[in-house]
Amino acid sequence: MSGEPILCVRALEKRYGARVGCTDVSFDVWSGEVMAIVGESGSGKTTLLNCISGRLPPSSGGVSYRMRDGTLRDLAELGEAERRFLMRTDWGFVHQNPIDGLRMRVSAGANVGERLMAVGERHYGRIRGAATDWLGRVEIDAGRIDDQPVSFSGGMRQRLQIARNLVTHPRLVFMDEPTGGLDVSVQARVLDLLRGLVADLGLAVIIVTHDLAVARLLSQRMMVMKSGRVIEAGLTDRVLDDPRHAYTQLLVASIPES
Ligand SMILES: Nc1ncnc2c1ncn2[C@@H]1O[C@H](COP(=O)(O)OP(=O)(O)OP(=O)(O)O)[C@@H](O)[C@H]1O
Ligand SMILES: [Mg+2]
Repeated sequence: MSGEPILCVRALEKRYGARVGCTDVSFDVWSGEVMAIVGESGSGKTTLLNCISGRLPPSSGGVSYRMRDGTLRDLAELGEAERRFLMRTDWGFVHQNPIDGLRMRVSAGANVGERLMAVGERHYGRIRGAATDWLGRVEIDAGRIDDQPVSFSGGMRQRLQIARNLVTHPRLVFMDEPTGGLDVSVQARVLDLLRGLVADLGLAVIIVTHDLAVARLLSQRMMVMKSGRVIEAGLTDRVLDDPRHAYTQLLVASIPES
């Protein structure tokens, strides 16, 4: 972790009417770092992720992002076109349910190729080549390139969603429970794959999970949320091995030793 953070979150709050989605959240993320956000259902994880990825306007506080040219920009001040461009190029978003992150009725190859076209690639052969390459990297047989994701298993769909997100070499990827909908055995495979890709590409990742084992496997740092607030944050090993907050201790105590 060196140099300047890629994402800075300050005093972020999101209210839904009188209900608090998240409040008083501040943290930084550096390039190449995986940050996990954990906490029970309803603790505000998705709300926070959606606010910091520009998908939901915060009620107060701010989020700034370091552009490729090094300037730090307040997300609230980006124009809609700029924000959409970031989402297509610099950022990825891996949804829990692959249906939300894929186009189910176009081919697997087109799902990957489309993101390249969005950043200006027009050469059919190169797009096809990159799509084939990425299907291989996420362990989908090249023979399935013309099949639609509707014909894929849950694990394959999730791996395709990952390929679609990473093909443009984003700098920051948001993930909301990326393995939440998968069988345990399939989950392990997808996690393993994610871990390898994140390390190879040097991505910054912010991953929401309620599974502490996922946080342990993928992240270097983590934040624990409860009732919309971050109640504990630190290096993942420290938080899991020596939790300081009573609620974190309870969470850690409730997972079986492995
Ligand atoms: N669109 C909405 N309108 C009103 N309240 C909402 C909305 N979305 C979330 N909330 C509320 O905000 C709080 C945080 O919800 P959020 O979905 O962020 O939690 P979460 O930690 O992602 O939960 P889960 O693990 O179940 O996905 C909850 O009290 C929830 O009821
Ligand atoms: Mg959620």
